[in-house]
Amino acid sequence: MDLATRYLGLSLRNPLIASASPLTGTLDGLRRLEDAGAAAVVLPSLFEEQIEAQAALLDRLDDLAEGFAEARGFFPAGSLPQAGPDHQLELIAQARATLDIPVIASLNGVTDAGWTRYARLAEQAGAQAIELNVYFPPTAPTVDGVAVEQRHAEVLSAVKRAVQVPVSMKLTPYFTAPGAVIRRLDAAGADGFVLFNRFYQPDIDLLTLRPARRPTLSEPSEIRPGLLWIGALAGTLDGAIAAATGVETADEVVKYLLVGADAVMTTSALLRHGPGHLRLLLEGLVRWGGARGFASVGTLRGRMSRSLGGWPTDSDRGDYISVLHGYAAAVP
Ligand SMILES: Cc1cc2nc3c(=O)[nH]c(=O)nc-3n(C[C@H](O)[C@H](O)[C@H](O)COP(=O)(O)O)c2cc1C
Repeated sequence: MDLATRYLGLSLRNPLIASASPLTGTLDGLRRLEDAGAAAVVLPSLFEEQIEAQAALLDRLDDLAEGFAEARGFFPAGSLPQAGPDHQLELIAQARATLDIPVIASLNGVTDAGWTRYARLAEQAGAQAIELNVYFPPTAPTVDGVAVEQRHAEVLSAVKRAVQVPVSMKLTPYFTAPGAVIRRLDAAGADGFVLFNRFYQPDIDLLTLRPARRPTLSEPSEIRPGLLWIGALAGTLDGAIAAATGVETADEVVKYLLVGADAVMTTSALLRHGPGHLRLLLEGLVRWGGARGFASVGTLRGRMSRSLGGWPTDSDRGDYISVLHGYAAAVP
């Protein structure tokens, strides 16, 4: 089975991309992912707050140095905060020098200046594409949906103006009308979309009565919003689509491709089972495609787009009603 695909104008040897996580945050992790079959990697996001923290530290050292010449020397090259932009930019450059697969940088900014500054630096360091992780939870009840959507469009425009490499947007499904938002960003020049991000959501530790902050890993049932919206949008956008969230087995990979994803990202399964799990996902995809006579990923991609709903038609409402009534009829 020919596994080749394209995403963000990049040729990929297969559809599997390792999404941003601690595994993609070290050169060793990146090498292991490439060896296990990842077709591309997304490095962990650089958060604007980290850039600001490092800049503030450097400013303080410069102030100190005015009165005390050796102050800067206390922090030789490479000893500043490891999570800061220098470390991330160095990792991009090392990844490019070491890996044969495409390297995608991820940004998570706050201000336009923050987004664009680091986007330029990431491009200069060698990133072949930039993924924008727009984490903008409108928890203040005064922020309305229009403002949230407008902010996404502004961030995209600012970064598109700043760099030449393709720019993708990693989005949440929690918009009132995700399809309309994605089509608007597509028209504004997004080169691709990661559908969907999986945001940290709070829980309560009942023993300590404190917020439980540990991130949880995803489950296969979480692919459903992606199936719905990728199925509804595939073939209608200029930008490419990477499916994300909930991949545990090859079944999820196949389903995402069937609804029209150009590529499929995974993190939780790799954190659970290690980078070698990519081999099982690829073998499962080849086995499934081979058993059903699909000669390539291209021939199976999109075979089931627009068959799961997404456009408001009478039959969607009919399906919805019969699914609900069907469950009630099966209760013992
Ligand atoms: C520990 C951890 C760290 C993550 N770090 C990032 C990050 O830096 N940037 C980002 O955009 N997503 C990050 N993610 C989200 C993943 O890239 C991915 O989108 C999400 O986990 C859903 O995919 P999955 O169901 O395959 O895990 C992180 C997820 C986990 C579990």
